Amino acid sequence: DDFRMNIAIDGPAGAGKSTVARKVAEQLGYVYIDTGAMYRAVTLGAQRASITPDQPTMLAELVRSMKIELAPGKEGQSVFVNGEDVTLQIRSREVTLQVSHIAANETVREVLGQMQRNLAARKGVVMDGRDIGSNVLPEAELKIYLTATVKERALRRYREIEGSQNVTLEQLEKEIAERDNLDEQREISPLICASDAVVLDSTGMTIEEVIRAIVQLSRTKLAEAK
Ligand code: CDP
Ligand code: CDP
Repeated sequence: DDFRMNIAIDGPAGAGKSTVARKVAEQLGYVYIDTGAMYRAVTLGAQRASITPDQPTMLAELVRSMKIELAPGKEGQSVFVNGEDVTLQIRSREVTLQVSHIAANETVREVLGQMQRNLAARKGVVMDGRDIGSNVLPEAELKIYLTATVKERALRRYREIEGSQNVTLEQLEKEIAERDNLDEQREISPLICASDAVVLDSTGMTIEEVIRAIVQLSRTKLAEAK
């Protein structure tokens, strides 16, 4: 009865991956790992050290020197870099606008990918990102590709910030489309739907409906494994 699996949830920005992955992990008693937060942490580090995406050697050195830790927090997951809590800082607009450029770096992907595989080695992990099912955990027992129309995803993000940042819905939609494009077009482990992933289009679905669908799929997998 102690069979545990790994669940990979990939998809574009604002599809609901982190919201849903956290709840699914909670319901299954699994550990949730937000890999986007790791790319954001490296981006914050690069910005603080004034390293730009066109300085691959320095970026490689930086990522190798960073100690990134994830810990369950009150609202989702807390992120620490070399002992400093950067949970809030990594969500800034500055980081969001640059993260896809930093995430295209080969060494950054290699180092973070290895950390992610280590975190999932003992199974019982729900991991969300862009390349989890396709690259990080190709053996994951359940792979979900969670998506929604770009309009819907922009609207979700817009509701989230609710006037706290000086940005229009149109601008958000453009930025999200740009980030999707960068993530899909990069050479190394791009955002892609793994051939054995279950595609879930969450446009018009509530969060609860998405959670239920994924938990259902995981229970089916667990039953099959017995
Ligand atoms: O939550 P949001 O959709 O804004 O993005 P995120 O999951 O925090 O990821 C931020 C960025 O990190 C993505 O746009 C990708 O450029 C990068 N990322 C990646 O390259 N590979 C992953 N497995 C996860 C994130
Ligand atoms: O991690 P990812 O970028 O894929 O999405 P997220 O950070 O979980 O953000 C999705 C936003 O859309 C959150 O504010 C959710 O409350 C909301 N939402 C959702 O996740 N799923 C739905 N079916 C409807 C709304």
